[in-house]
Formats: sequence, structure tokens, C-alpha cells
Amino acid sequence: MTDSTQHDTAPAYGTGDATYQAAGGIEGITALVDRFYALMGTLPEAATLRAMHPEDLSGSKRKLAYFLSGWMGGPKLSKEHFGPITIPEAHKHFPVDMQSKEAWLLCMERALIELDYPEAFRRYLMKQLAVPAEVIRARAEMEARNRS
Ligand code: HEM
Repeated sequence: MTDSTQHDTAPAYGTGDATYQAAGGIEGITALVDRFYALMGTLPEAATLRAMHPEDLSGSKRKLAYFLSGWMGGPKLSKEHFGPITIPEAHKHFPVDMQSKEAWLLCMERALIELDYPEAFRRYLMKQLAVPAEVIRARAEMEARNRS
């Protein structure tokens, strides 16, 4: 998961905790997740995605921020606080389709832009996030087909 398009002396994203550090540690990730969910509440494209979530987003925010911490090479807060999860399994009962997957990625991309992360970091992270997002969609659609 290294990125040869980085031009500074920092370790490449994906190496050790470089991604976590570039995100600003848990404070940066918390701000990113807050902005992500704020956008989910306002972007028309994300209305269906928002409706999959509870009214009170505090638990959803904490779970996502803690997960991203470990996923980016930082402290494994999700595992510590909530125990191990597998991402496709955790989403299989939600009606995720191409539209809601794209909406999730759109909210994240807009949040990264609004928080002024460098373009190279945004591109790297969006490429990485698209991988689990696609696995989630494929798994959820398979579950939905099996139920019908
Ligand atoms: C494909 C688009 C996605 C959709 C539609 C989606 C939707 C959801 C929904 C509706 C929840 C439940 C929130 C709650 O009950 O509080 C959730 C939880 C969660 N999502 Fe996603 N999500 C997507 C992608 C992702 C990605 C790419 C990641 C990580 C890289 C992620 C990480 C999580 C985590 C860690 C939780 C908490 C799971 C748990 O502890 O049960 N999601 N997601």
C-alpha cells in the first residue's frame, strides 16, 4: 500500500503509521469523521445512506473513527473497545448498493477536501477506501439476493 507519488521525505502512506500520522492522528480522524457525517446529513445524494443510520450518530462516529485509527496503521482502538469485527460482515444487513456506496465515498472525499488534506493524501486514501467499500457492496447485495 505504498504510494510512489509522494514527494516529501515522510514515509510513504501505508508504511507503518504514516497514513495515521498524515490524517492527524485520532484528533484528525475524529474531525474527518465528524465532517463526513455532517455531509451525509446534507448532501442529497447521501439521503438513503443517512437513513440507514440511527438518528443519534454518536455511536456510529465513534465506531468509524476507532476503526479508521487501526486501519490507517495507528492504535487499534476499535478492537480494544468493541472487539474484533470484519467489515463486510458488519455491513451485510444494510441495503448497500452502488448508489449508497458511491454516496459513502463522496461524503468522505468531500470531507477530505473541506479539511484541506493534501491532494496526494486524498487520492491515496480514496483509492484505499474504495476497496472495502466495494467488498461491502458486493457482500450486501449477495446477502439481499439470498434473502429474496
Ligand atoms: C460501502 C459503503 C458503506 C455504507 C453504505 C456503510 C454503512 C454503514 C452503516 C449503516 C453502519 C451502521 C452505523 C450504526 O449502526 O451506528 C455502518 C457501520 C460501520 N461502518 Fe460502514 N458503510 C460503508 C462503508 C464503510 C467503510 C469503507 C468502512 C471502513 C473502511 C466502514 C466502517 C464501518 C464501521 C467500523 C462501522 C461500525 C460497525 C460495527 O461496529 O458494527 N464502512 N456502516
